[in-house]
Amino acid sequence: MRICLVCQNIDCKSRGSEQLMQEFQKRVAARGLTDVEVKPYMCFGACQEGPNIVLYPEKNWYAKVKVEDLDEITDHLAGGPHVQRLDTIDSSLKELIYQLLDTGIL
Ligand code: FES
Repeated sequence: MRICLVCQNIDCKSRGSEQLMQEFQKRVAARGLTDVEVKPYMCFGACQEGPNIVLYPEKNWYAKVKVEDLDEITDHLAGGPHVQRLDTIDSSLKELIYQLLDTGIL
């Protein structure tokens, strides 16, 4: 199972992450990506860069995601290219969060 974590804490929510998560769930289902689950996450610690989405276990972090970006992210999940322009988070913060996820805190 692959997981897409969509931050639902206050800052990301104030930028529309609730609707973003719902739209993302619809697109993943419409593509028939049955091995992908879109789930809420509490906070990635990059609140000013939100809405934030982290794909796990592949470890891709997309920041400042808008509904218009979701088709490209869904394409990526279906085997398409990495969405480079949304990959803007500092690598040390990414590593920290990936390590947390590796410990099983989902
Ligand atoms: S509120 Fe989304 S990363 Fe903190």
